[in-house]
Amino acid sequence: MNVNTITSHPYTDQRPGTSGLRKKVSVFRKPHYLENFVQAVFNTLEEMAGMTLVLGGDGRYYNREAIQIILRIAAANGVGRVLVGRGGLLSTPAASCIIRKYGAQGGIILSASHNPGGPEGDFGIKYNTANGGPAPEKLTEAIYAETLRIDRYRITDPHHVELDTLGEQHLGEMAIEIIDPVADYADLMANLFDFHAIRQLFDSGRFRMRFDAMHAVTGPYAKEILEHRLGAEPGTVMNGEPLADFGRGHPDPNLTYARDLVDILWGCSSPDFGAASDGDGDRNMILGARFFVTPSDSLAILAANAHLVPGYRQGIRGIARSMPTSQAADRVAEALGVPCYETPTGWKFFGNLLDAKRITLCGEESFGTGSDHVREKDGLWAVLFWLNLVAAKRQSVEEIVRAHWQRYGRNVYSRHDYEGVDAEAANGVIDDLRAALPDLVGRQYGDYRVALADDFAYVDPIDESVSESQGLRIIFEDGSRLVFRLSGTGTQGATLRLYVERYEPDTTRHGIDTQEALADLIAIADELTHFRRRLGREAPTVIT
Ligand code: G1P
Ligand code: ZN
Repeated sequence: MNVNTITSHPYTDQRPGTSGLRKKVSVFRKPHYLENFVQAVFNTLEEMAGMTLVLGGDGRYYNREAIQIILRIAAANGVGRVLVGRGGLLSTPAASCIIRKYGAQGGIILSASHNPGGPEGDFGIKYNTANGGPAPEKLTEAIYAETLRIDRYRITDPHHVELDTLGEQHLGEMAIEIIDPVADYADLMANLFDFHAIRQLFDSGRFRMRFDAMHAVTGPYAKEILEHRLGAEPGTVMNGEPLADFGRGHPDPNLTYARDLVDILWGCSSPDFGAASDGDGDRNMILGARFFVTPSDSLAILAANAHLVPGYRQGIRGIARSMPTSQAADRVAEALGVPCYETPTGWKFFGNLLDAKRITLCGEESFGTGSDHVREKDGLWAVLFWLNLVAAKRQSVEEIVRAHWQRYGRNVYSRHDYEGVDAEAANGVIDDLRAALPDLVGRQYGDYRVALADDFAYVDPIDESVSESQGLRIIFEDGSRLVFRLSGTGTQGATLRLYVERYEPDTTRHGIDTQEALADLIAIADELTHFRRRLGREAPTVIT
């Protein structure tokens, strides 16, 4: 094996965002762009020699080419062994599971999650550490610093690795093992959930579901688990073939982009249960017949009912949610007598709490839910958790949610996304609001008086690292909230997110339409910032 040292020059735009480095495919294809980043990752790791690495991606355009390049760089840098998902596929949670199960030192996951793919679409890469979770900020910042000074990388001569055949190959000294991307993950799920009860539910003939894999990575996982192991009828999984451009879709499981599924669940012979996952399989959307489960509610409901699931029968240690996620989970934590942590947006902030065994469940409003079984959010895991609850409680999705509101009250919640807006205008809205925050406390807006207004900062309780500027929050005296944040995952212009929450204890008002219930708070958000005029947008692109 011949190792070449290639002279390169730094790119200044390789700072990882909320979840790794995401750019247009055309950017990743610039000379040395991917190579630089991968070499920067290797330069930053302390122990490289002989390490075991996990490698795979969501199958989007450029996945296979990138894997070939990464394998050559890994071999040239002394990596001992790489476990690669067959076909270059690994869902994000499966990659996390495999890193942990085989004691790998880390993993490289190729995905831009829910962003569209294809030659004109996005690509992404992120590094996960030995616990199976996304690299913490300290490491991503060190990688970024390295990308700014990198001037060479090591790579073997061209070599073609056969990605579609299970088994071991070699590239010089480095072993490459092509593994089944689904089996280990499916086994883990079978250990956590009551597969017997879920199978009975399907066998009864009185329960039907549809799972929309959105032509992304979860197709093979969902077919194996739902249709083969659990006996759901063939065809339960729709759009199950992973495609490089996701069938020209936007693989984000929400009411806007998972339209096919939504139409089926709101149609006349609706199945009882609907679910979807995103590009890399870490997000989930849960639907009942003509009923949408708000992701923040989903986290709270899973926590409140965890004792019904074999893997969590002993109870949960605590819950964590990202700051903009609704406070529904806080109420459950209080009732259970366990702590509830509030972290910045992004899964990487849950890792320390999970490793330190402070929490068992965690989640975000952005269709992300997970637990200590891996160190990523996990789409199919959430779907199986819900199926387990439906089987154990013998209630429909809607009945489970309404019973939960009855007991805990309802945290009425919505997120409004203004996608692809002018970055300067969006930064202006945020900067001006940040400057105005100190004067807001005590001011009255309609029925609401401001109790607290700040730019959210987080001190990690385990390693005491500080993360600042994580979103502007305006909290009113009754606990209602407005949060403004700029997305850290987009690749075009800026995306402004407005998160709105109001607590409704009155059960007679729980049927109220979400947007109607939040209308006056949304009007206050505009009154405070005039963001609609400044962004030149009448309405959000996506409402969740
Ligand atoms: C978005 C979500 C965030 C999630 C991330 C990765 O990040 O809001 O909760 O962790 O995607 O899936 P954002 O674009 O808001 O930075
Ligand atoms: Zn994702």
